[in-house]
Amino acid sequence: MTTVKTELLTHIKAKYSIIALQTSEEARAIRIIGEIAADPQTVKRQVYIGSITKGLYPADDEKSAGYCAPIDLLNSVEEQQNQTKPAPTIYILLDQHEAITNDITYRRKLRDLQTLLKAKNSTIILISPTVEVHPDLSKTITVFDLPLPDKVELEEILCTRVKYLQKQVKTLRDEITSKPEQTAQIQKKLDTLVPITEALIKQATEQKDAIVSALQGTTGGEADQTIAKCIVLKDLNISTILQEKKQIVKKSGALTYQETDETIAGIGGLKNLINWGKSARNRFTETARKYGLTPPKGVIFVGAPGTGKTLSAKALSNLFNIPLLTLTMAEMTSKYYGQTGNNMIAAIKLAQAMSPCIVFVDEIDKMFGTSGGNEHEESARTRGALLTAMEESTGIFWLATCNQPTALAPELLARFPTVFHVDLPSVTERREIFSIHLKKINRDPGKFELDRLTSVSEGYVGREIRNALQEALGQSFDENVEITTDHIVKAIRTITPTSVQRKDDISRIRKWCELNARPANEQPEKPESPTTLEADLNKELEI
Ligand SMILES: Nc1ncnc2c1ncn2[C@@H]1O[C@H](COP(=O)(O)OP(=O)(O)OP(=O)(O)O)[C@@H](O)[C@H]1O
Ligand SMILES: [Mg+2]
Repeated sequence: MTTVKTELLTHIKAKYSIIALQTSEEARAIRIIGEIAADPQTVKRQVYIGSITKGLYPADDEKSAGYCAPIDLLNSVEEQQNQTKPAPTIYILLDQHEAITNDITYRRKLRDLQTLLKAKNSTIILISPTVEVHPDLSKTITVFDLPLPDKVELEEILCTRVKYLQKQVKTLRDEITSKPEQTAQIQKKLDTLVPITEALIKQATEQKDAIVSALQGTTGGEADQTIAKCIVLKDLNISTILQEKKQIVKKSGALTYQETDETIAGIGGLKNLINWGKSARNRFTETARKYGLTPPKGVIFVGAPGTGKTLSAKALSNLFNIPLLTLTMAEMTSKYYGQTGNNMIAAIKLAQAMSPCIVFVDEIDKMFGTSGGNEHEESARTRGALLTAMEESTGIFWLATCNQPTALAPELLARFPTVFHVDLPSVTERREIFSIHLKKINRDPGKFELDRLTSVSEGYVGREIRNALQEALGQSFDENVEITTDHIVKAIRTITPTSVQRKDDISRIRKWCELNARPANEQPEKPESPTTLEADLNKELEI
């Protein structure tokens, strides 16, 4: 039995008479409740559904009595339960959230009904996409969140589709006997359908676990639609399922499924970080799990702008070979007050269902940094939701980047077991960065004076080196000649590096990192004195 079924059942058995189920999957919720109620081993209840458009009717005999005000639905429930020996019933009431919030009579009626329902072993389950319990009802209503389907439920959804295929074949076979005049026609249909069905059933059986894992993170409806699409395509192909799932995540708003071709080979320097990444990757394996190791929980890269933090994060996702879901604040911020925290919870829930995955929070200091004491209540709540999610999540690798570590709340930083300081690149590292980016523009690094380039670029970060190369390439293109070391040197000299512009910021980061982070760069060099660099630059630029 799925977890949500077990939980609901426990509450029904324990005579919780009024339950609110928060979900946008109404049909799935009704199906689940129906299955609980039908099980004679457990509670055995009759089920009624009530809506404002159809009134109250038995779940297995849908008939519309036309418009029915929410309070009248409660009156109908009361009437039934006041009969002599009423059958224990589950009343699924839809569309009640407005009345709960705005109608004091409705709230009173719900509270009045509580004792009656308890005495008669009956339950009201209110289903709605958002549940805001009015303080009047805080002791009356128990709120449940319908989680995304777990593996057991996804397997059920897959089985239902497979059974439907088998049923189609059976119906056709029966028709051959019952409609002998159409035998040839039916046989032709069977000849097409049977091999497809058999192949799909074989796939569904042999690859059940992989299919179910690939479906994780989808709602019941989405999972069913995805399987249906695969059936139409005659292939329960895992990559089709993953492709569909990416579309679903894209629609979700707060999370972006990011595909990236960045690899660790494209990172110049940062050897300590890369080596850590390689050993972390091995902890995600089954062998490591059997050995007793748990996969690492997360890492944060702290450092000056343009040093390769975002680049390294993307490369790590390829190294780990697990999907990178980027948390984007803009999409999450809601115009409805108080909703942002909920959006965050929904995003994490989705990520959790898609685990193993990486949740990437780029520039976390800008998203969740504190601005001193007078922080907005909403952002404090959202940060709180993130903190809880990070603490409780399993199967999510938390990856973040940050420029200003001092702006981060210590409790947020503490959620990252590993902190790397990504510093300005050393001589060797700059050489690697030049080589990587020269190769990217299809030039042979061997044809350039790399010693000269690394020497003039002291204090420059990867982004500035890449930009200088582009600038030089543009220049040589305009001159209609091949790019040379001179072009690049000239371009470098037109850029004032961040290490000069934001000298103080960089010293602050370094100071903080000395105590709180490990170096991402191998053999960090003694930083060049920015004063010398500044003087050199001024001389070069003839300022
Ligand atoms: N170590 C590096 N090796 C190769 N390329 C680099 C390196 N560092 C930076 N780059 C180049 O600079 C670009 C920008 O770097 P990136 O976005 O990773 O910087 P960042 O540290 O995240 O900066 P910010 O703090 O401003 O977000 C990269 O896409 C890459 O092209
Ligand atoms: Mg970045």
